[in-house]
Parts: sequence; structure tokens; C-alpha cells
Amino acid sequence: MSLRLGDIAPDFRAESSEGEIRFHEYLGDSWGVLFSHPADFTPVCTTELGRTAKLKGEFEKRNVKALALSVDDVDSHKRWINDINETQQTEVNFPIIADKNREVAGLYDMIHPNASETFTVRSLFVIGPDKKVKLSITYPASTGRNFDEVLRVIDSLQLTADYSVATPADWKQGEDVVVVPSIPTADIPGRFPKGYTEVKPYLRLTPQPNL
Ligand code: BEZ
Repeated sequence: MSLRLGDIAPDFRAESSEGEIRFHEYLGDSWGVLFSHPADFTPVCTTELGRTAKLKGEFEKRNVKALALSVDDVDSHKRWINDINETQQTEVNFPIIADKNREVAGLYDMIHPNASETFTVRSLFVIGPDKKVKLSITYPASTGRNFDEVLRVIDSLQLTADYSVATPADWKQGEDVVVVPSIPTADIPGRFPKGYTEVKPYLRLTPQPNL
């Protein structure tokens, strides 16, 4: 059965481009992004890994560790990393799991046989410091992921983990957020001192509380 939001992200031990990884130990107290790629030396994956490497500072700001996965071996990953560094003008700065036997892919349901019997699809999981799955998205091999969106969702996940708010459509850092329905309107002034706007009794907006 596939992983659902709130499930514990399965722990595993695997070879990677940076040596053996014990997943939960690797994450420590950080958030994690685990994302799979159909195969080494493929064009879209090359751009995705380059983009992730360039976002190192953005991931660090959010206390997030990235971990990629592809079903080729460590030697292949290392050769591919040279190409990524060269073509994307960056330095890959996170491990790529060598999931030759598709063990991790199996744990995370990253092979969708009706798309491909052998290659992983573009799965991406955001995992919280409690090791629970907070977000899961799946893209086909032919569509590269939008890493601005990945960062945006992480911002929302981290904000909503700490405050009784939710983020509206297309929300970005700095914009107003929604007070969750379980908070009575009468309690809002005490909990959200920056003020609020009641658009409807069920739609109450307040400035982002952690800025
Ligand atoms: C790619 O990563 O570029 C790719 C992989 C499989 C099919 C299409 C594109």
C-alpha cells in the first residue's frame, strides 16, 4: 500500500554517492526532501538535480536535508554528478541513493508499473522532524518538478506546524493566512494580535504570525 500523509516515513539503509545512508539518522532533527528520478544520465533529472544543488542555501534556511534517489549504481551516480556539475554550473551537495535493487523505491511506492515497469517515477516526499510524511507529490518522467513550489509548500508546512493557521491558494511568504476553522472568531484577537479580517464567518484572514 502506498504511503499516506501522517505515516512514518520508512527507515532504510542504502548506498549513496556519499557513502552509506541510514535515512532516519541522516535526517536527524531536520526536515527532509526525498525525491526519486527515473534514471541517471537523463536530461530532465539532470536539470532537477542541478536546481536542487543551487537551492542549498534555501534548504539550509529551512533546516531541510535533500536526498535524491535513482535506480543506478554508485559509480554511475558519481559519473553523472560530474555531468550535472558541468552542465548546470553547480556542485551537487547532497547524496543520491543508489537503489539498484529498487528496495527503497518499493518502500516508497516509487515504481508505478503502468507508467514504467523498471524506472521510478518522479516521487517527492517532504518529511517532518517527527519522521512523518507531510507532503507527497508524483510527477511523470516527462515533467520536471517546480522547486519553487517545493520551497513554498515547506514554508506552509513549517508555518502551519507552529500556528493555528492554514495557507490559502497561491500563498507565498509574507502574505495573509487563514485562521483555522476550529478557532472561534471571539478568540482571534487574543491569539493573533496583528489583527484579522472577517470575510465570512468561516473565512478569517490574519497577517502571517511569524514575521
Ligand atoms: C528525463 O529525466 O529526462 C526523462 C526520463 C525518462 C523519460 C523522459 C525524460
